[in-house]
Amino acid sequence: SSTIRLALIPGDGIGPEVTTEAFKVLEQAAPTGVRFETTPYELGADRYLATGEVLPDTVLEEVRGHDAILLGAVGGKPGDPNLPPGLLERGLLLRLRFELDHYVNLRPSRIFPGAASPLADPGEVDFVVVREGTEGPYTGNGGALRVGTPAEVATEVSVNTAFGVERVVRDAFARARKRRGTLTLVHKTNVLVHAGAVWWRLVQEVAPEFPDVTVDYMHIDAATIFMVNDPSRFDVIVTDNLFGDIITDLAAAITGGIGLAASGNVNPDRTAPSMFEPVHGSAPDIAGQGKADPVAAILSGALLLEHLGHEDAARTIEDAVVAELAARTPGAPLVTSEVGDSVAKRVVG
Ligand code: NAD
Ligand code: IPM
Ligand code: MN
Repeated sequence: SSTIRLALIPGDGIGPEVTTEAFKVLEQAAPTGVRFETTPYELGADRYLATGEVLPDTVLEEVRGHDAILLGAVGGKPGDPNLPPGLLERGLLLRLRFELDHYVNLRPSRIFPGAASPLADPGEVDFVVVREGTEGPYTGNGGALRVGTPAEVATEVSVNTAFGVERVVRDAFARARKRRGTLTLVHKTNVLVHAGAVWWRLVQEVAPEFPDVTVDYMHIDAATIFMVNDPSRFDVIVTDNLFGDIITDLAAAITGGIGLAASGNVNPDRTAPSMFEPVHGSAPDIAGQGKADPVAAILSGALLLEHLGHEDAARTIEDAVVAELAARTPGAPLVTSEVGDSVAKRVVG
């Protein structure tokens, strides 16, 4: 028998609502002899407002001692005068991704049978976005001068290191090899010429190691067209942190909605725990009403099990979700806890 030490960070808004259901399903799906030893962490808006703390160093070090992290969502109500914009996003979520070296932000998209795509005839859609997770415009490299004056200047500099780009590109090639053998680099090399050159060159340099993988390229603006008009052409997409953020919300929308989209912040070198979370945020507009779809969080739990080597258990969750979605009436309201109960029941049989 073995133990999975799980750090649970429910976070804000619908975060606690959906992680409760995801954990319910995880416990049900755990292989015989495997048990979860869970440490809950109260981090997010409430803790900040009560104590001024976002992510104390001691807490970060404790979290580091776990096998994996399950996170709900982070972020308060936009415009809350007591919550500076980005404070929680940067200080908690991005800090975890950076400190734990989650350089592969894995965001799979599939149209499950029965899931309602807004596209009339989407075809077979099954792709994964490998979003770089530790660099790009997310590092906080920037600043502002003469703030509040007509001469104000603000910069947000995108950081792209050869080291950082090569490792995520290599990971994406390896995933493409195990899938249908197509890797699409998405960037904006026609305008962001410095960053673009690094991405382009490293893709070309790594490609010969994967002769079985076909390489494709698209500018990010054109990629949004193809994502809507011909999404079945994608297999693995590799892209920078910000393009990956945007394209994965679109990917979620075309595959049945943001309530279904799962993600993993993966540290492939396993020098720290990986973190699994839905693609969506804290959804203040529906928080506390018990109507958030927990499927994104539940599928993130499947990614967690897969990462820890429990592929069969992960598959039972995916199969249960497929059955759940097939039984759904598109557009009908749902109750968060009922979805969790129902999926958990389908996991057992
Ligand atoms: P959001 O993803 O929270 O919400 C966008 C829309 O999708 C809303 O209408 C919401 O009701 C809906 N939605 C989201 N999840 C849903 C679910 N499970 N079921 C049904 N509907 C769902 O994005 P936002 O409104 O831009 O951001 C709200 C807050 O969340 C902000 O503070 C933002 O910074 C934060 N955020 C956090 C994360 C994260 O923790 N990983 C991700 C995105 C946004
Ligand atoms: C996401 C979110 C985050 C991101 C924010 C909240 C920092 O939008 O996980 O997609 O931009 O990565
Ligand atoms: Mn996002």
